[in-house]
Amino acid sequence: MTTPDLFADAAAGPVGHWHQHADVVVLNTDVLTALATVPDGLATLVISSPPYNIGKAYERQVTLDQYLAWQSTIIPELIRILARSGSLCWQTGNYVEAGEVFPLDLYFYPLFKKAGLTLRNRIIWHFDHGLHASKRFSGRYETLLWFTKTDDYVFNLDPVRVPAKYPGKTHYKGDRRGQPSGNPLGKNPSDFWAFLQSQWGDAVWEIPNVKSNHPEKTVHPCQFPVELVERCVLAMTNPGDWVVDPFGGVGSTNIAALKNHRKSIGIERDEAYCAIARDRIRQFQAGTLKLRPMGKPVHQPTGQEKVAQRPLAWDEVGETDHGTDQPR
Ligand SMILES: C[S@@+](CC[C@H](N)C(=O)[O-])C[C@H]1O[C@@H](n2cnc3c(N)ncnc32)[C@H](O)[C@@H]1O
Repeated sequence: MTTPDLFADAAAGPVGHWHQHADVVVLNTDVLTALATVPDGLATLVISSPPYNIGKAYERQVTLDQYLAWQSTIIPELIRILARSGSLCWQTGNYVEAGEVFPLDLYFYPLFKKAGLTLRNRIIWHFDHGLHASKRFSGRYETLLWFTKTDDYVFNLDPVRVPAKYPGKTHYKGDRRGQPSGNPLGKNPSDFWAFLQSQWGDAVWEIPNVKSNHPEKTVHPCQFPVELVERCVLAMTNPGDWVVDPFGGVGSTNIAALKNHRKSIGIERDEAYCAIARDRIRQFQAGTLKLRPMGKPVHQPTGQEKVAQRPLAWDEVGETDHGTDQPR
């Protein structure tokens, strides 16, 4: 890779122009305007979490049909910029209207399929925090649809293997009887992204979503954890490849790519988020950006902490009163 020319954006040149010699690009403009400047077949990975049309500060809520019609205009452009060996990862949650839940991946799947992509995995990203629902079960996962453009796609399993639960297992019959049956590099991380820390299996590693006590938290309300993107970057691209995030937010994809020696383009309409993205990239380059290391175990309560103990007052309330269970 050449010396990074970081910010091919409005501040450093024409708005929305992809910069041939940049390794990290932040394009501060509308997604369609920006994509039009990206060459055909550039990206080995397109990865994003689009707006969910749920009334966040950065979006104007419309009907589900209008939202999908808008997203449908972007899909042909995403496929145009995708390399033949490329992957597209689309991470979504639920759109909710009048208490009815519409899982967005159910709606995106036919759009991408009709556009010619092939689904390789529907990955469940499990996290332990979020709103406490009172009229349905609390949502604790979102999904990531992984599509490829052709059957000839990049997939590097070894860099993303995780420790096996029982690495000491051996073949119990045949020529290899008694020899280790697993892979010394670990096992496939599976399509459920909450994985075991050690062979003892008592501590779960999860990729937490980025909430206020997360080291990566910025003012953005829906940030990707960098480690979620990193797993896709490592598995689906090779060093020097281009990774594009069409709804780049505060640059989590740029950072995951840079950290793993890939080139990247983040597209983001909001200038304030672009400014944070540039700042995070600069901090990463200076070695000062706080990141949750990939695969770091989530804190497991020992049961001794005050917050892990059942409040004494609950014993006085009686067995049937379990509180209001309102969103917090
Ligand atoms: C779910 S967030 C993505 C956050 C990102 N994954 C991160 O880690 O920061 C969706 C982003 O899309 C941006 N956005 C919404 N409409 C857009 C448009 N038409 N063009 C470009 N960006 C847009 C929003 O400002 C928001 O930051």
